[in-house]
Amino acid sequence: MKCVDDFRLRLGKQELVPIMVGGMGVDISTVALSLEAARLGGIGHISDAMVPTVTDRRFNTKFVKDKLKQYKFNVENADKSVVKFDLDILAEATKLHVGSAMEAKKGDGLIFINCMEKLTMNGPKETLRVRMQTAMDAGIDGITLAAGLHLGSFSLIEDHPRFRDVKLGIIVSSLRALQLFLKKSSRTGRLPDYVVVEGPLAGGHLGFGMDWAQYDLATIVAEIRAWMQAEQLDIPLIPAGGIFTGSDATGFLENGAGAVQVATRFTVTRECGLPEKVQQEYFKATEDDIEVNQLSPTGYPMRMIKSCPAIGDGIRPNCEAYGYLLDANGSCSYIQAYNREVAAHPGERRIKVMDKTCLCTHMRNFDCWTCGQYTYRLKDTTRRNEDGSYQILSAEHVFKDYQFSKDGKVALPE
Ligand SMILES: Cc1cc2nc3c(=O)[nH]c(=O)nc-3n(C[C@H](O)[C@H](O)[C@H](O)COP(=O)(O)O)c2cc1C
Repeated sequence: MKCVDDFRLRLGKQELVPIMVGGMGVDISTVALSLEAARLGGIGHISDAMVPTVTDRRFNTKFVKDKLKQYKFNVENADKSVVKFDLDILAEATKLHVGSAMEAKKGDGLIFINCMEKLTMNGPKETLRVRMQTAMDAGIDGITLAAGLHLGSFSLIEDHPRFRDVKLGIIVSSLRALQLFLKKSSRTGRLPDYVVVEGPLAGGHLGFGMDWAQYDLATIVAEIRAWMQAEQLDIPLIPAGGIFTGSDATGFLENGAGAVQVATRFTVTRECGLPEKVQQEYFKATEDDIEVNQLSPTGYPMRMIKSCPAIGDGIRPNCEAYGYLLDANGSCSYIQAYNREVAAHPGERRIKVMDKTCLCTHMRNFDCWTCGQYTYRLKDTTRRNEDGSYQILSAEHVFKDYQFSKDGKVALPE
């Protein structure tokens, strides 16, 4: 019987353990987590979500405070379109974040950055270009294009000296999305180095509608694989979403996948950015506690633990400090939902907004508990402490469990 370690992912000249830890914004997939995956010979992701906010916490920069100061005059204004990101500051923050990962990297693995198109930042093209180019300047091994179709993303970086050497990949949830991407990027004369195929059981935003439950990862992967073979495209496919055990992963590798992308199992590791209090909520969650909802202002469905503080909270939009989801016109659907509730409840101090959530603020504070569908199985991956809490794992333990386990088994910690 085979295990994941019997396979290798070939990316250019490199041979890797075929385990990729997926990007989890905002600083849930930390530099520390990505370093462990790379040290163990796989691929780790950092995320480029809200990087200035993340560097403030990690490096004591004052980007958020300074931005809030600059736009304080607008705090009471319902129209947030004046709130812009300073591209030099965005570059400085990205350089710090990516640079700190790359300088500390040890081992044979790689560190990629998860770049979400839906972080439109009141200037979609310019901000995405700066984020990707600066990550390449700072030595990132690869960029995974996420949360969006990215039809123009290769063009944004095609003049960069590393365009042909940095590893570039995209996350898709359908053959159609991949076909569109390949068609639109063909002008740059460059194919992606890998394609992550994300199914409906993943965490974060989903590339499906509310009918997500009708889709199945293995079927989508098989469809994409058959099309790629017919087109003679030899690009590693990396399935993601609900791959919970080493045996699940091995099954995909035996069927021709280049690697697997996994995330949920790593949310309860010490290296993950979630506070331990939140990690205990992930452990405690039952299947009924997990829902896919439409609260994200991005327009994509998102999976969350129902009891998380982000749901129903009517906080005033914090775009002067954050504003990462302001679209090209400087608006965000949470602002509209919030303004509607304020108008409907004059004089009320604390309003509720049930249909959208202020994703920037709540992700920043780890109050939006996005999770994979199998979060309810995490309790079976560890031991309980005497006080009833669950033992937090090490990233190495989870990585090696994926790498070596067989027979559907999950190794418990010592
Ligand atoms: C807490 C959490 C946050 C996530 N955030 C992101 C993200 O910011 N960008 C992204 O492309 N995918 C995100 N994902 C998806 C993962 O990178 C990954 O593809 C997926 O969750 C894999 O499925 P699994 O969690 O069942 O292993 C997130 C997943 C989780 C669990």
